[in-house]
Amino acid sequence: MIIGSEGQVGSEIKKQKNSDNFIFLSRAELDVSDALKLEFLINSIKPDLIVNCVAYTNVRNAKNDTNCISVNVDYVKNLADICLLNDIFLIHFSTDYVFNGNKATPYIEDDEMDPINFYGHSKLQGDKIIIKKLKKYFIIRVSWIFSGTNNCFLTKIYNEMKRSKTIQVDNISLGNPLYVGDLVSIILLIISKYEKGEISSSDTGVYNYCSQPETTWFNFANEFCKYLKEHGHKEGSTKIIKNNEPDKTLSRPKNSRLNIKKIKKLLDINDTFWKDSFESVVNNLQKTKI
Ligand SMILES: NC(=O)c1ccc[n+]([C@@H]2O[C@H](COP(=O)([O-])OP(=O)(O)OC[C@H]3O[C@@H](n4cnc5c(N)ncnc54)[C@H](OP(=O)(O)O)[C@@H]3O)[C@@H](O)[C@H]2O)c1
Repeated sequence: MIIGSEGQVGSEIKKQKNSDNFIFLSRAELDVSDALKLEFLINSIKPDLIVNCVAYTNVRNAKNDTNCISVNVDYVKNLADICLLNDIFLIHFSTDYVFNGNKATPYIEDDEMDPINFYGHSKLQGDKIIIKKLKKYFIIRVSWIFSGTNNCFLTKIYNEMKRSKTIQVDNISLGNPLYVGDLVSIILLIISKYEKGEISSSDTGVYNYCSQPETTWFNFANEFCKYLKEHGHKEGSTKIIKNNEPDKTLSRPKNSRLNIKKIKKLLDINDTFWKDSFESVVNNLQKTKI
């Protein structure tokens, strides 16, 4: 069962795996703040495994919106309770925002968590609930997901490129972008290995995942701009300028880099490279009207 089939990750799972043994629930079919409906649907469908793609992700509004705690904490608690009761394997997503960003090297799964904004706190509470309650779960910790759909960074950049000749982009934060299609490939691999018994409850835990190489938002946007130019898109003539001023209106971790040795070893996979997905991003952008 995939809960949240219309978000960036949920819609990509639907795109890659629209088969009979996958059940997708959109927001229209299940508002997760309706705890009784959540319980009813899971009890009627009795899935072996749930991928939770629902989250409150509006980092800037999180503090002033009660939906943030309702979704990232209360719903996650209800979901974990139902999974525990029904022996369901849960795949859930965490974020680099659980860290304060002060570490000089990429974060490993066991690093101390110390969020610096409200969204990060809410996600950390959700992670802790799952870790405490469940014995069968994967929390996949990701950062900087992009797709060219929904409201992701590259979609925003592309839309700005259409409007302005020059745009300023954060050159302070360091991270590892991750194309949503690469993330979904990993989720489907986990599901397939779980079905075959190649991974089990003993592998339960938190796993970082991201693509290579590490970069800044500026460099990421600039590489995308270069790609557009090389492939004849007029947006590629935009000048991308470094912004070295920290955002004073919202604290975000300056270091979002993730060490992915643990998941690579478990799944026996190689690195993926974010630049390789620019063609897919452009295809998505051309299909999406945002
Ligand atoms: N995007 C990133 O860069 C990033 C980075 C690190 C971690 N993550 C984590 O990765 C996971 C997936 O993120 P994403 O990028 O796919 O987020 P997303 O595109 O914002 O998707 C989240 C989905 O949850 C839905 N939702 C919110 N409240 C709901 C409710 N009460 N009932 C039902 N559905 C509700 C949203 O619907 P509406 O659109 O209608 O509100 C949206 O479709 C999340 O756990 C997120 O914290 C994301």
